[in-house]
Amino acid sequence: MSKTVIIFFGPPGSGKGTQAELLVKKTGWKKISTGDLLRFEVAAGTKLGKLANKYLGKGKLVPDRLLIDLVDKGLRGRARGFIFDGYPRNLKQLKDLLLMFKKRIKLSDPVYAFLVAVSDAEVKQRLGERRSCACGAVYHLKYNPPINDGICDICGKKLFTRNDDKPKVIAHRLKVYHQQGKPIIDYWQKQGKLIGINGEQPIAKIHEEIMARLKELKLI
Ligand code: AP5
Repeated sequence: MSKTVIIFFGPPGSGKGTQAELLVKKTGWKKISTGDLLRFEVAAGTKLGKLANKYLGKGKLVPDRLLIDLVDKGLRGRARGFIFDGYPRNLKQLKDLLLMFKKRIKLSDPVYAFLVAVSDAEVKQRLGERRSCACGAVYHLKYNPPINDGICDICGKKLFTRNDDKPKVIAHRLKVYHQQGKPIIDYWQKQGKLIGINGEQPIAKIHEEIMARLKELKLI
């Protein structure tokens, strides 16, 4: 049985996580979000979490070697498809991922990267008003508010502001994205596997566009 791999790529706050979650709901494919996995490790107080926390709060990339096991573990199992959110983020991670693919999926399995394009100004606006939940749900005070103020619609827990959603840290995350992201975009483009999406549209419209592209490619 073939497995589909979709990789969401784009600047912080472009809506990768939001779109990945909507796609999970529609397809039942497995989401591999390195940001969520790392935050889970931090919350659980593991050795990895303690190490990672030094980077997350500053908006710096966690060292590549710390992510290999997390991602490879995610790729095991019987899922019919995988949805990547936030990995790979630099050339080394791309090479690591391609090696993992050799072990975990077939050469003929479809792999596509969706580039969710959003301006830096929009990123700053979005992240300033993002609210998150420990269960992984993400809201925006204006564009995607919870039904009850400050409370997660899904699990009822109290929402919080991520500690990397501060103006200075957001600026650093954007800098890292612009410095390290280009080779990844170039790679998928050369492979003919890059699908550009205008991320400055309503959430539902972007989701429809992604679903339409997946249908065209006969992946759903
Ligand atoms: P991670 O959690 O992956 O953060 P990120 O890539 O910076 O992306 P975000 O989660 O901030 O944004 P998003 O694009 O998912 O947008 P979202 O859907 O939430 O990583 C955090 C940190 O972990 C990194 O800085 C690093 O330290 C570490 N890390 C993670 N992966 C790593 C890796 N591979 N290597 C090394 N280190 C790693 O949406 C944002 C907001 O906008 C929300 O409020 C949402 O409701 C709203 N919104 C979404 N779509 C729309 C829309 N279309 N219109 C209006 N609002 C929208």
